[in-house]
Amino acid sequence: MTNHLLSLADMTPEELIALLDLADQLKADRGNPNHKPLAGKSIGMIFTKSSTRTRVSFEVGIQELGGTALFLSKNDIQIGRSESMSDTAEVLSRYLHGIVIRCNEHDTFLDYVSHSKVPVVNALTDDFHPCQLLADLQTVREHLGRLKGVKVAYIGDGASNMANSWILAAKLAGMDLRIGAPEQFQPEARILEMGQGEGTVTVTADPAEAMKDAEVIYTDVWVSMGFEEEAKERLEILKPYQVNDELMSHADANAKVMHCLPAYRGKEITASVLDGPQSIIWDEAENRLHAQKAVLQTLIK
Ligand code: CP
Ligand code: NVA
Repeated sequence: MTNHLLSLADMTPEELIALLDLADQLKADRGNPNHKPLAGKSIGMIFTKSSTRTRVSFEVGIQELGGTALFLSKNDIQIGRSESMSDTAEVLSRYLHGIVIRCNEHDTFLDYVSHSKVPVVNALTDDFHPCQLLADLQTVREHLGRLKGVKVAYIGDGASNMANSWILAAKLAGMDLRIGAPEQFQPEARILEMGQGEGTVTVTADPAEAMKDAEVIYTDVWVSMGFEEEAKERLEILKPYQVNDELMSHADANAKVMHCLPAYRGKEITASVLDGPQSIIWDEAENRLHAQKAVLQTLIK
């Protein structure tokens, strides 16, 4: 792992397990008034896209670890008036001990990283959402007791930041990931070639095939932030990829259903599945807090 969390591509399987173990420990120890590894530290949060979970879990996590969070929307800082990421990174490095960034292009994020003198955490770009995946893996391990060999079906937009992140996570954690996505929204070759670890990734246009005996079912919105102009076309093409009761019948009877949220009931997933007994979405959302505290504690010294 570098000094930053960019994606899961630059992490070893051992580093992943260490982060998840720390996340479990922090979850068990939540509220310990003596655990303040970020005391005296200030962490900036530059967000140019909306957020509920990521923003709140980071702000609360930083506070619980004894640090101070500064939320900086693009309208609060000069980035909104075209100041460059590189100049912003140089300046903020003189004030802050760490920075969390959510923005559009991954290259914009990397531009910031290359000029930052303090650790940077990817809080979602168009390409990757590693913090979500750390929470997802923590949640899978809690509910299934293992990661190695777990069969995961990722259904829907197979070229999104979530699908990309699942590809890296599955390899790293030794999982068996099947992506069920239409040809227009299958993972790019450059992403399939990334990452390390023993896990396997297969891609099919047949959602039922991807679901076969799956122990974890995952889906994400059909229209990610920044892709609103393609909404009409996406909703049409992705319709056969809805996670519903019929599709669920192909999965393992005890399969768990996950979604990074926000969710659109009746689009990528039906209410009967998302709010049904196999859903573990609220534990998944909660674990954002614990997993991100583990990231901050590990990176910011
Ligand atoms: N899952 C997730 O990142 O949610 P937000 O967009 O609300 O942060
Ligand atoms: N793919 C979604 C994830 C939201 C957490 C998006 O980028 O909008």
